[in-house]
Amino acid sequence: MGKRVFIIVMDSMGIGELPDAGLFGDEGSNTLGAIRDHENFFCPTLKSLGLFNIEGVGGGVQHPLGSFARLAEKSMGKDTTIGHWEIAGLISPKPLPTYPDGFPDDVIREFEERTGRKVLCNKPYSGTDVIRDYGREHVETGALIVYTSADSVFQIAAHEDVVPVPELYKICETAREMLQGEHGVGRVIARPFTGEWPYTRTANRHDFSLVPPGDTMLDLLNEAGYDTLSVGKIYDIFAGKSVSEMNRIKNNHDGMLKTLEMADRDFNGLCFVNLVDFDMVYGHRNDVAGYARAMTEFDRDLSALLPKLRDEDLLIITADHGCDPATPSTDHSREYVPMLLYGKHIKAGTDLKTRGTFADISATVLAYFGVSPGDSGGTEFLSESVTEAGKLPESALSDDDLMQIAEEMRKRSYAPYSHYTVGAALLTTEGKVYTGCNIENAAFTPTVCAERTAFFKAVSEGERNFAKLAIAGGREGETSDFCSPCGVCRQVMAEFCAPDFILVLGSVRGHKEYRLSEVLPFMFTNKEL
Ligand code: THU
Repeated sequence: MGKRVFIIVMDSMGIGELPDAGLFGDEGSNTLGAIRDHENFFCPTLKSLGLFNIEGVGGGVQHPLGSFARLAEKSMGKDTTIGHWEIAGLISPKPLPTYPDGFPDDVIREFEERTGRKVLCNKPYSGTDVIRDYGREHVETGALIVYTSADSVFQIAAHEDVVPVPELYKICETAREMLQGEHGVGRVIARPFTGEWPYTRTANRHDFSLVPPGDTMLDLLNEAGYDTLSVGKIYDIFAGKSVSEMNRIKNNHDGMLKTLEMADRDFNGLCFVNLVDFDMVYGHRNDVAGYARAMTEFDRDLSALLPKLRDEDLLIITADHGCDPATPSTDHSREYVPMLLYGKHIKAGTDLKTRGTFADISATVLAYFGVSPGDSGGTEFLSESVTEAGKLPESALSDDDLMQIAEEMRKRSYAPYSHYTVGAALLTTEGKVYTGCNIENAAFTPTVCAERTAFFKAVSEGERNFAKLAIAGGREGETSDFCSPCGVCRQVMAEFCAPDFILVLGSVRGHKEYRLSEVLPFMFTNKEL
């Protein structure tokens, strides 16, 4: 069986301004800071891995399960392409070029000569406005509509009846050949449209990305014979270079479902995942509530991935730049990004501090596969993070951590009849947490307690080995000092847990450990049957 590394990029999940954020107009930006206190934000999995233990973040758990670091961007940019290239070991001293006043005359002239068509517009423009304002002239004259945006893009709009789609793609390829070096824009984009004025855009949009100007870890892994699987935008970001398999996705959740499929498959190498909704759907639209909800959804999907990881697997969770949804700017922000490293061989709770470049990730991945990093910029952190081969992380979440998670779970409670809300956090012997809340019902009797919610979630996911359970409860809005598990829940525990199973009882203010045998003496078990 091969070694596998999963890298998941939460697109735009920055964790606070970089020292040079002022140069980019991004002082004070903090994407995670903007969403973490929203009521939609609930990320116990990321929390248990150590997201909040990272330097400068705050609010960490006592015993995180992963190793963690804060990474600075060394490249002079804050876009998706440059961020991902740096993660893959390629540092860009200059940002990709942007054209707030349109493309220079010599570029346009050469483009007109090579395509035999004149150019209209040549300014930053909205994609729907541009076809409304220039579409008719284009249809009359056959001239191409060329426009740009705040991003590094050269976009070409044309009516499908005037310039058939295959011809438009050829024109884009010509532009792509031309636009290298000084004018190497991130993407040339075909923007076909159809119908009558004011016209509608078709689904035949196509992006022609800039090929990375040097070797990345994908090239090095590929040359060494390892698989390089892409999920989401990764294929486009690297212009397909050294990507052995492409998987398109519809949204973040779909991306995680694909990643879960990969985790069920045998491969030998890297599975590189980009989740773009954080950036495209929420960050750019300054949607704090949506961003927070998307993180909660991701956290849930992530909790399904962890048990699928095999002994030889590594998981790295990171980001490519920020996009603070709470600042007036709808643009990306120049921020630090988080790095969480998790696996059976990873020493839990190693603080890898603040590091100078995202390229430390590629250096680490290459070190894991024993491939020489060549002249890429990073420094590996694998040797600081691994335990002796095969040894499980020593520490798991503490009782305090579990109780805090149980208390947070009370927010999820559905208790419109008793107004008594309960949360539970159930720890498996592998170190994973299953959570639950009480869920009531108008018929009262089908009400389910928080503890059973957590147990049945875990059991239906195939878990059978449990270590500890923390319970927090109280009247809505209050925290009582003690919430005692009901008789039915104790009986369920007797089914799945040994008599020495530990219950953490009390509250976030103070708690004690009890054995199941203490709270359910003379228990009835399957031994009697
Ligand atoms: N409840 C729990 O969820 N766990 C306990 O340990 C005690 C009781 C719930 C059930 C019901 O929704 C509400 O608390 C009041 O009994």
